[in-house]
Formats: sequence, C-alpha cells, structure tokens
Amino acid sequence: MRRPVVAGNWKMHGSRSANHALLTDLERGLKAEWPIDVLVFPPYVYLADAARMLEGGQIGLGAQDVCAEGGGAFTGQVSAAMLKDVGCRYVIVGHSERRRLFHEDDALVSRKFAAALQVGMTPVLCVGETLQEHEAHQTEDVVARQLDAVMAMHGAASFADAIVAYEPVWAIGTGRTATPQQAQTVHAYLRSRIAAQDANIGRHLRILYGGSVKGVNAGELFAMPDVDGGLVGGASLSADEFQQICAAAALRAAVRH
Ligand code: PGA
Repeated sequence: MRRPVVAGNWKMHGSRSANHALLTDLERGLKAEWPIDVLVFPPYVYLADAARMLEGGQIGLGAQDVCAEGGGAFTGQVSAAMLKDVGCRYVIVGHSERRRLFHEDDALVSRKFAAALQVGMTPVLCVGETLQEHEAHQTEDVVARQLDAVMAMHGAASFADAIVAYEPVWAIGTGRTATPQQAQTVHAYLRSRIAAQDANIGRHLRILYGGSVKGVNAGELFAMPDVDGGLVGGASLSADEFQQICAAAALRAAVRH
C-alpha cells in the first residue's frame, strides 16, 4: 500500500502574513487520522519561518528547487544541506518552469536529484511533456528521457527514497487537466520503466499527478490505480481547496486499504 501524498507548490506566491494565515488554516483543517503525507513548498525565504510554524505537526516541508553543487562560490544559490538545516525534508527538482524558463536540462536535474539524496532529503522529480509534444504523441518518449537521465546517472535504486510527479506542461496553471485515464496511462508507464530495473522499487514508488488539480477533480484522478496523490500549484494557495484535495487522497487511502 503506497501512502498518498498531497504536495502544495506555492511557486512565487506568498508573504509572511499570508503564509501564516494559510498554514494556520491548513493545520486546523487536516484530520490527524488521514493516512496521507501533506507537504508544502514555500519560496526559499519563507522556509525557516514555515519550519517553525510546522514543527511537530502533520505537514512536511520542502523547497521548490536546490543547487546541484554542495557549496562554495555560487552567488544566489542554495544548497541541499542548507535546506535540510532549516527543516526541509523534500525538494522539487526538474519542475517544468525550471526546465523551460531557467533552461535546466536533464543532466542538471539529475545532479539536483542526487544532491537532495546525498543529504537525506527526498527529491520530487517532475517529468512531463509540452503541448506540442503531447499533440505529436511523444509523451512516453519525453517522460522516458527525463526519467532515464536520472536512472542512468544514479540507478533505479536511487528511487527508493524519491517521489516522481507527472506534470503535463499543457495542464499546469491552464485549468486543463489530463483525464484520469491519460494520467493513469503515463503513471503506469513510468512505474513499469522503473520496475523493469527493480520490481520492488517500482511497486513502492509514489507517482503524483500535477496540472490543474482542484477539489472537484482530485477524487477521480486519485481513484486511478497508479496515481498516488497530487502536486498542486494554484489550488494549494487556498486552504479550503487544498483540504478538499487532501480529503480526496485520504478517501483513496481508505478505499485501498
Ligand atoms: P497547477 O500547478 O496546479 O497550478 O496547475 C501545478 C504545478 O506546477 O506543480
């Protein structure tokens, strides 16, 4: 039984007061008995603040990115050890906005993945195709390339402590969600690719769907056998919406048990 994950990627949103209000509302609304992992990914500058607020609670903390280097003369960058030091246990690597807007390639993403593992943090590896690639029926080729880049560098065993998120670029922030069946097909494909290298790791790997996940569609997405939760952008900025998504994940866990 894979424990569902609901992860809120706040992107470049928030302020000290807004974050405080959001986390307070979230902590109040989550039910202690829900057998799910709930994670939030605030911008770097708010991580230490959030860590203090979340200490001893139910919500895990992660960062939206990390430097591939361990430390040194890299102005403006933040290392995995620093993130861990302020209380992060998770880090997103290879988000499509990083790949597209900041020109991160598969090799760099793979190094970031390893940097997180090296300090004992869990990387959340994002993969997904653009609209153009989707329309050209290249989805499997693209996600395979993104996944294989990490497997080639670090082996399938490196996924024992990782999470994968399938995020079709055309579904991010667009209100256009992949259908549950589309998501399921890609998730099953990703799992089979890892399972071909290591059956046990493939079976236990948690694969999240991301791209316009909302309270209204979370239930049908999470009902798919290989969809183990969601990586949520816009809807994670509303405590109500995010809780509805968490409730859908908790229901999935209850049904599967
Ligand atoms: P969205 O973003 O939920 O706003 O589509 C998802 C993401 O980018 O992780």
